[in-house]
Amino acid sequence: LKIFSCTANKELAQAIAEKVGCKLGDGEVVRFSDGEITVRIGESVRGADVFIIQSTNAPANDNLMELLIMIDACRRASARRITAVIPYYGYARQERKAKARDPITAKLVANLITVAGADRVLTLDLHAPAIQGFYDIPVDHLTAVPLLAEYYKKRNLENTVVVSPDMGGVTRARDLAERLRVPLAIMDKRRPKPNVSEILNIIGDIKDKDVIMVDDIIDTAGTISQGAAALLERGAKSVTACCTHPVFSGPAIERLEKSPLQEVVVTDSIALSEDKKIEKITQLSLAELFADAI
Ligand code: R5P
Repeated sequence: LKIFSCTANKELAQAIAEKVGCKLGDGEVVRFSDGEITVRIGESVRGADVFIIQSTNAPANDNLMELLIMIDACRRASARRITAVIPYYGYARQERKAKARDPITAKLVANLITVAGADRVLTLDLHAPAIQGFYDIPVDHLTAVPLLAEYYKKRNLENTVVVSPDMGGVTRARDLAERLRVPLAIMDKRRPKPNVSEILNIIGDIKDKDVIMVDDIIDTAGTISQGAAALLERGAKSVTACCTHPVFSGPAIERLEKSPLQEVVVTDSIALSEDKKIEKITQLSLAELFADAI
């Protein structure tokens, strides 16, 4: 078994290798001055069971290309089996045609990963779980909800309610609520245009409650910060939020800082740069979850 890392999740990859009990493989991504990428694999992978760890968060295209090239290199070096370990699967929000002539980029990404030579994909909390079916190779789909639940179980949850910020997230929110043995409420959210959200109604009792909002992704933090404000306006006592994938693009950090959210719990499916590690963010490690799956 050999574990290699591209550049997106170096720390997580190191932690996974430690948990699995092996050294990270000798491989690296090399950039040419014109921006092209290659990889250097410094040890034999002939006949090996190879795992390549790489999230395809921003810069999504470069990160995806690193993964594809690393898979290609391992395949051409006669690896026996190659598993693409993708903690954050970029382009997962483009999984269907929302309007005429839209691309289905999540499927295109699946085709590219398969054609590059992956035999298996190991990923986490896909925005659209149906993406598993875009592959004809095995896809193991993990969830971070148990990890988030373990974190919250250390708190006093007597007065707590879990809230899904939209209809699409109800299954995930119900899973968290059941693990914490607390009630569930749902926000009725509308998206008039991309990256803009509007909260219409809240279904369920949040009055005087300590709310945990749970989402798969926090991107611009519009959903979660507007959600927190709407919940407090409607009588919630306090609001914290958690998600699997801290995409944190554009105004996200500023919004989180200004928002009434007390804490934002995320995983390390996406590595956070130093400027994004603000006080109210707690990052939980996925190392054990992935090490167990490997
Ligand atoms: C959307 O359906 C997702 O589950 C997230 O709610 C969304 O991607 C969050 O985006 P933002 O943080 O930009 O509101």
